[in-house]
Amino acid sequence: MSARPPAYDISLRRLGPEHWAQWRLLRLAALSEAPYAFGSTLAEWQGAGEQRWRERLSDVPLNLVANLGDHPVGLASATTPERGEAELISMWACPEARGRGVGDALIAGVMGWAWGQGASSVGLDVRAANHRAIALYERNGFVDVGPATEEGGPYPERRMARPVRRPA
Ligand SMILES: CC(C)(COP(=O)(O)OP(=O)(O)OC[C@H]1O[C@@H](n2cnc3c(N)ncnc32)[C@H](O)[C@@H]1OP(=O)(O)O)[C@@H](O)C(=O)NCCC(=O)NCCS
Repeated sequence: MSARPPAYDISLRRLGPEHWAQWRLLRLAALSEAPYAFGSTLAEWQGAGEQRWRERLSDVPLNLVANLGDHPVGLASATTPERGEAELISMWACPEARGRGVGDALIAGVMGWAWGQGASSVGLDVRAANHRAIALYERNGFVDVGPATEEGGPYPERRMARPVRRPA
């Protein structure tokens, strides 16, 4: 009999431009810890000022922080749906919080928001070598739909997508 994973105290908080300093802290930690995972780089963002962070948080409509207990441990964003598809970006859980369902919770938050936006699917690009992220997405119902459409630089990327259904 396989053991049921423990339920951790994970909650999501939606951030707006006024929360730019908290977003900056987590996003710089993500770019520093997992440079292999993102199109953006730490060099592009570490000198960014308040205005640029605020613009990032207003240009992208959904910005979620995951808390484990009282501690912010992860983030994810989603873009305005285009032709029915929203884009999941900026997914990260800090190493100390991994293996507890933080990514699952962030994806659930994005899918619920996408439903409210009337999106029919959520898509994402992921580096082909990022097996842990691909496993997270597959576990959450995303399927590989081919090579990424955006030019991802020197690293091959895959496109994954999942239909949006009414939240349970
Ligand atoms: C991708 C990433 C967000 C996944 O982190 P995560 O949410 O902790 O998910 P993980 O896959 O590491 O952990 C899930 C594992 O914990 C297990 N687990 C234990 N308790 C759990 C619980 N209560 N709920 C859910 N899963 C639980 C799951 O069963 C799973 O185990 P498995 O891998 O053996 O199937 C994280 O690795 C990360 O931030 N990586 C760097 C950035 C990155 O790659 N971002 C993606 C860009 S496209």
